[in-house]
Amino acid sequence: MDKNIGWGIIGLGNIAQKFADCLKLVSDAELIGVASRNEEKAVDFGIKNDSKYSFGSYEELFNCEEVQVIYIATPHTAHTTWAIKAMKAGKSVLCEKPMGVNRGQVEQMINEARKNNVFLMEALWSRFNPAIAEVKKKIDAGDIGEVGYLHADFAFYALD
Ligand SMILES: NC(=O)c1ccc[n+]([C@@H]2O[C@H](COP(=O)([O-])OP(=O)(O)OC[C@H]3O[C@@H](n4cnc5c(N)ncnc54)[C@H](OP(=O)(O)O)[C@@H]3O)[C@@H](O)[C@H]2O)c1
Repeated sequence: MDKNIGWGIIGLGNIAQKFADCLKLVSDAELIGVASRNEEKAVDFGIKNDSKYSFGSYEELFNCEEVQVIYIATPHTAHTTWAIKAMKAGKSVLCEKPMGVNRGQVEQMINEARKNNVFLMEALWSRFNPAIAEVKKKIDAGDIGEVGYLHADFAFYALD
């Protein structure tokens, strides 16, 4: 690829910081803009994470021409609204889990992605976990035969 993908982040809380840390490890990604409802917060986050621009509203980031993908890290109830606004502005969207709070919201988001011909994905990172990718490869190659039963757990120590 000869050009970096320009990323923008909205909702500069806990997971947005983790995402910004990880984006630094992706060779074809560039953090172009970050947006908060509070401009001072956006500037602090932007400086800390080497973002080219920092905005005091989400809409300003959606209007930034250098950004191709918006990562949405707001609380659940705001995912659909902001994802749709971003897609209407022609941006692709990586939306935090859950994509919407019900089926209707998710359908609206998918429709909007199709209408604007943009990429939309829920930030389901476990899909890209190397162990899971390897298991999928083996299943697809028929290495273990036909899968008859799958048992999976996802857990972590959440206190403190
Ligand atoms: N993929 C994962 O593994 C993973 C892990 C943790 C969380 N998540 C998801 O990520 C989302 C954010 O979680 P988080 O833990 O980062 O939350 P958080 O620390 O509370 O951050 C959410 C941010 O959203 C913005 N926001 C916009 N509207 C808001 C409102 N009405 N009330 C409060 N904040 C608002 C705020 O940013 P500004 O003030 O900058 O606008 C806030 O800092 C949730 O949907 C959560 O389920 C996913």
